[in-house]
Amino acid sequence: MSLIIKNGRILTADQDFRADVYIENDKIAEIGIDLSMQADRVIDASGLYVIPGGIDVHTHMEAPVGGTLSSDDFETGTRAAAFGGTTCIIDFATQTRGQKMRETLDIWWKKAEKAVVDYGFHMIVTDLPEAHLEDMNEIVREGVTSFKLFMAYPGVLMVDDATIFRAMQQSGKTGSMVCIHAENGGAIDVLVKQAIAEGRKDPVYHALTRPATAEGEAVNRAIALASMADAPVYIVHVSTNDALEKIAEARDRGLPVFGETCPHYLLLSIDDLKRPDFEGAKYVLTPPLREQWHQEKLWEGLRRNNLQLVSTDHCPFCFKEQKMMGRDSFAKIPNGGPGVEDRMHLTFHHGVNNGRISLNRWVELVSTAPAKMFGLYPRKGAITVGCDADIVLWDPAKEHTISAKTHHMNVDYSMYEGFAVRGLADTVISRGEVIVEKGEWLGKKGRGKFLKRDQYSGNI
Ligand code: URP
Ligand code: ZN
Ligand code: ZN
Repeated sequence: MSLIIKNGRILTADQDFRADVYIENDKIAEIGIDLSMQADRVIDASGLYVIPGGIDVHTHMEAPVGGTLSSDDFETGTRAAAFGGTTCIIDFATQTRGQKMRETLDIWWKKAEKAVVDYGFHMIVTDLPEAHLEDMNEIVREGVTSFKLFMAYPGVLMVDDATIFRAMQQSGKTGSMVCIHAENGGAIDVLVKQAIAEGRKDPVYHALTRPATAEGEAVNRAIALASMADAPVYIVHVSTNDALEKIAEARDRGLPVFGETCPHYLLLSIDDLKRPDFEGAKYVLTPPLREQWHQEKLWEGLRRNNLQLVSTDHCPFCFKEQKMMGRDSFAKIPNGGPGVEDRMHLTFHHGVNNGRISLNRWVELVSTAPAKMFGLYPRKGAITVGCDADIVLWDPAKEHTISAKTHHMNVDYSMYEGFAVRGLADTVISRGEVIVEKGEWLGKKGRGKFLKRDQYSGNI
């Protein structure tokens, strides 16, 4: 099967030029001006950008959280991702305490068999006695080259500093990356119990019991631990200027410290948690939405490369059945929100169209940097001969209003309901196969492949 994309404007993290792209089977075989070869199919990309498919390195499909499962499984979630121009995800396999990481991986491989785009995994570590350190090496050999550890959620996912330090030392040796959910879980737990005892139970108290300082402190500690362990560290879902300042300071010192943020921290705020009729529960996610002034600081962090990429932390729960579990107390609302379908157009519209980031930086943030950070580059995140033909034809002029009525995520609300954007995925190609074309689904359940990722290269 061959395909030629003619007349498009190729945009990568560092290039912007007009050329044709010839795809043979699942790879890009040639790039050049006015390519003359015959192909099974010709797509005219006049007026469109030709970009590498989006890569979302932070999703939770069918994930156990707060006594329920996130409402998108690997089929519905990756299909929605594709509609939004994301052709690859890295999801989280969650180790149950006492479980061998290899067993965890087997469970998540099974769940992901129905994925429609390619996927990798990070391993969430909840249990790492000294005697099991070797398990991390085994997982890295399977191509799972990053681990997530939690400084929050005591009694559920939180691990102590010694465990984090051990994992970092081991990751330094195996060339893997430790990703940290950085919030001071102990202090937050006290604040949550106090709020509940005092009858302060509305959704907004989710944010008020998780102060920005709790994130700043934990990021600082994570960086100190990584520096002592001589290992890199990646801070997931950075939501505050407090955290960003600690990352920037460490990077100024030359430390391999990295961070991501998510569209909801760039565009939504604590005011959304105050919406009446329990609607604030739709915005209960962790770390919480912050005061609005943090948003511009995060954009600046992306511009200055103190934050390297944008992921979604896609972890949807239906409002009617699942968010309602916390009707009588914010502490029982499952934490998480939907976003995998909206990341590319939200960052394009609010980043590029609003003059906050360049076109090249946008491609870098949503595709190339994720691939480099997590061992997928140049197979993914690039438009170059020999790489996977994961390509999005992006229509910069197409207007769209985001709504739960039209999105493809399996969730009954959108955090961005009514947001108007200009710039949308027009045609989505995954390993040479057109899977979305002008709003029509052409992909097949189970066509996504597990990606064995390379070790951390330090070359970001
Ligand atoms: O609220 C969130 N973020 N839920 C998913 C779990 C996590 O901490 O990433
Ligand atoms: Zn987290
Ligand atoms: Zn998450």
